[in-house]
Amino acid sequence: MPVTVLLLLLGLPAFVCAMPWSWDMFKQKSYRAQKSIAPPTPEGTVSTKGKPFYVRDRAAAASLESPVEPTEESIGRGRAKYMIYCATCHGDTGKGDGPVGKKYIPPTDLTSEYVQSKPKGDIYYTITYGGMAIMPGYEDSMDPVDRWHIVNYILHSLKKEAGE
Ligand code: HEC
Repeated sequence: MPVTVLLLLLGLPAFVCAMPWSWDMFKQKSYRAQKSIAPPTPEGTVSTKGKPFYVRDRAAAASLESPVEPTEESIGRGRAKYMIYCATCHGDTGKGDGPVGKKYIPPTDLTSEYVQSKPKGDIYYTITYGGMAIMPGYEDSMDPVDRWHIVNYILHSLKKEAGE
C-alpha cells in the first residue's frame, strides 16, 4: 500500500505539468528580442534636452550664468516645482520644517544668509547633484530649466514669502 502511494506521489508532478494550463503562458505568441521593429517613441516622452549645463564640480558651478531671468512667470513656476520637490523636507517657507524634514536630518534653512548669499550656480548644482551630505540630487528627474526656476524662486521670493 505505501509503495502505491509513493508511486502516485512521484508521478503527480509530471501529471500536473501535462495539464494544458501549465503550458499556456509558454506557448503563447510572443515577440522575441530583436525580432520585431520597435514602435516609434511617442513625441515628448524622452527628454532630448540632455544636460545643457554640464558642471565639473561645485566650485565650477559657482560661475554658471543662469539662462533664466527671474521674471514673475519663472518665479511662479519655481514655486510650483519647489512645492512638489522640495517642500516635503525644506517646508513651505524654506525653514526646514516640512513633514519629512522634521523626522530627517534637519534640512538647511533656505532663507538663511548662508543660502541666500550663494551664487545661483551653486544652488543649481545642489539641486542637480544633491546637498553636502545626504540631500538627494535631481539630475535624472527634473528638467534643467525647472532647476533654474527653483533657484529664482529661492533667491528672489522665498524669503519675502516667509515674511522676512
Ligand atoms: C529628502 C529631504 C530633502 C529634499 C526632498 C530636498 N532637500 Fe535640500 N537638503 C536636505 C538636507 C537634509 C540638507 C542638509 C544636508 C545636505 O546638504 O545634504 C539640504 C540642503 C540643501 C541646500 C544647502 C546645500 C549647501 O550648499 O549646503 C540647498 C540649497 C537645498 N537643500 C535645496 C533644495 C532644493 C531646491 C530642493 C528641491 C529641488 C531640495 N533641497 C530637496 C534635504 C532635502
